[in-house]
Amino acid sequence: MELNESKLNIAVIGGGGREHAIIRALKKSPRCGRIFALPGNGGIAEDAECINISATDLDGIVEFCTENPVDFAAVIPDDPLALGLTDLLREKGIPCFGPSGKAAIIESSKAFSKELMKKYGIPTAKYETFSDLGAALECVREHAMPVVIKADGLALGKGVIIAKNVSEAEEAIRSMMVDEKFGKSGKTVVIEEFLTGAEVSVLAFTDGKTIIPMPSSMDHKRALDGDMGLNTGGMGAVCPNPFYTKQAQEQTMERIILPTVEAMNKEGRTFKGCLYFGLMLTSDGPKVIEYNCRFGDPETQAVLPLLKSDLVEIMLAIENGTLESCPVEFSHEASCCLVLASGGYPESYEKGKLIIFEDVPEDIEVFHAGTKRTDLGFFTNGGRVLGVTAVRETLEDAVKAAYDAAEHISFDKMYYRKDIGSMALRHTLSMIAALLSDMGV
Ligand code: AMP
Ligand code: GLY
Repeated sequence: MELNESKLNIAVIGGGGREHAIIRALKKSPRCGRIFALPGNGGIAEDAECINISATDLDGIVEFCTENPVDFAAVIPDDPLALGLTDLLREKGIPCFGPSGKAAIIESSKAFSKELMKKYGIPTAKYETFSDLGAALECVREHAMPVVIKADGLALGKGVIIAKNVSEAEEAIRSMMVDEKFGKSGKTVVIEEFLTGAEVSVLAFTDGKTIIPMPSSMDHKRALDGDMGLNTGGMGAVCPNPFYTKQAQEQTMERIILPTVEAMNKEGRTFKGCLYFGLMLTSDGPKVIEYNCRFGDPETQAVLPLLKSDLVEIMLAIENGTLESCPVEFSHEASCCLVLASGGYPESYEKGKLIIFEDVPEDIEVFHAGTKRTDLGFFTNGGRVLGVTAVRETLEDAVKAAYDAAEHISFDKMYYRKDIGSMALRHTLSMIAALLSDMGV
């Protein structure tokens, strides 16, 4: 790719809080020219030119990028990546950030990713894959409980059911394979062993040769405090994740991250972009719960505000295969992203509520996930509405600052979890106590 040192106009595909955080990071670069967000959202419109083309309208996106002064495209969400949008754009001569369709399969087919891990000895839960209903039902009747049932394909993070007994497991399988609760995504199911341990999210930049992990984070997927309620797209995240010790980092790099990137190369599916490792730190060491072929949401809203290097240069280096010589540095501070959601989410909720911002402190980043802008102000337009991120010296201060900032924002039926970061803080305190006792203090 020949891109000189001039400014680049960048098309960012997607329109959630994660994309807003990416756009804010891109804007800090001296190389960043115009940013087009397809489709973006009300808040993103403050930082970019929003173009009303959906992230899955591949023809529309390619047409826009070829007919407008777009130098580079960053494809962020899973659907367009799985559909091969980066391949179409590259064919038209538009360089991209994001894996090819062939590499995005690491997220879009759990059957593929499980088979990859088995073939290359990458630690994960034991599993079997079924396309036949009778065989799947027979498997869970014999299986230890709880058991985990996963739809093979993309299911907006909701295609995983943890069944406590055989009848729940049978119901889960029927809902996927017969009732098609997740459409075609559930025609094949993966039945796997239930693992226990702390969960960690690790995002890593890679061009297929060099791998640079970002600081670890902890997502909070359930809707309610104490990890109760339904699974959501994520109610908050903290960074770094104190469970991810130096030893866990080393084991993960050696047993999971390096072998995964190598395995994708060997399969002829070189991965370039941001590879997401959803890990469980079990008593047998770290194991992969899931791979994503993209930045996580809301992890990105916690991790990227800590990036000190130039995200435009990083994305270009990944596309050019020169990540090895590109500086990638993160601050050693901590961050907390708190998601403000619409009452009822992740089930039914109302939209169109006026959002009131009252003197939100200037050092707080407010990322818009589901908002609409009119002449009268910002209105809610989704289940997850805003992500409020604070960066501070310590995790304790970051959590406190994010919660303080949330007090300055309101809309009808707004809700948020009150315990984002509390598990991480409790763990940090117990580690300090253990260290002091080791020292005899
Ligand atoms: P996934 O969409 O694969 O990340 O799964 C969603 C959530 O289900 C994970 O964040 C875990 O909390 C849980 N989960 C998935 N697989 C397993 C497993 N094998 N054992 C225990 N929990 C799991
Ligand atoms: N936070 C989990 C995901 O982005 O899939």
